[in-house]
Amino acid sequence: MSRYNEYRREVLEVSRRLSEGGYFGTKSGTAGNVSALIEGEEVIAITPTAMRYDLMRPEDICVIDFHLQRIEGSHQPSIESPMHIAGYQVRRDVNAIIHTHQVYASSISILNLPIPPLFDEVTLAIGDIVDVIPYALSGTRELHEAVARKLANRCHCYLIQNHGALCVGEDLENTFTYVELLEKISVVYSHALASGKPVSTLPRPVVEKLVASMIARQDIEIDRKDALTRRAAALRA
Ligand code: 13P
Repeated sequence: MSRYNEYRREVLEVSRRLSEGGYFGTKSGTAGNVSALIEGEEVIAITPTAMRYDLMRPEDICVIDFHLQRIEGSHQPSIESPMHIAGYQVRRDVNAIIHTHQVYASSISILNLPIPPLFDEVTLAIGDIVDVIPYALSGTRELHEAVARKLANRCHCYLIQNHGALCVGEDLENTFTYVELLEKISVVYSHALASGKPVSTLPRPVVEKLVASMIARQDIEIDRKDALTRRAAALRA
């Protein structure tokens, strides 16, 4: 049995839940993609391109390295694989990435508006802003370079202009929750904007406190991974 099987099973399970929840825009389509970083390796398990989630099996999940070389799986990996790999390269705290076409976040993406900090539990989880990654055609180098530039802000959710959303996190379960929180604030913000009345945001000192807690959580994960890397290097020496 391959050591990647557990990751493939988990990527499929989360993808199915997202699809059934309508987070890929339709429940029967193939939009969106999901990946997980293999612990201690520059390798990811990622959904195949253009395959329906309800028909996907664990063995359909692709395992590729950071140079896009196929390690396991007979399908072509998602066309957004370079975007996922760029995410893992920029963000050491990140071990899972989910790209969705969720409806309300997509509606804000066409307004090209970042979502400000609105609720404390959401800001604590995902950061102070849901920024907009500028539009570039799906699957292009322009898109993955734009993603890499934005991810440096250390938040967990992004809108991709005229396309959809991107959430990054410490594992697939937490990243799934970030997808849900993003949809919650997107619904609320859309309704508030539609009212035409001013939107109230969290006070800045509160936002700074919450973001500091989020960064501390990320730093713990970075330290854990750095310690693992050092241990592996020591064992090899
Ligand atoms: P894939 O089917 O190749 O993952 O592409 C779907 C998508 O959403 C492109 O942005």
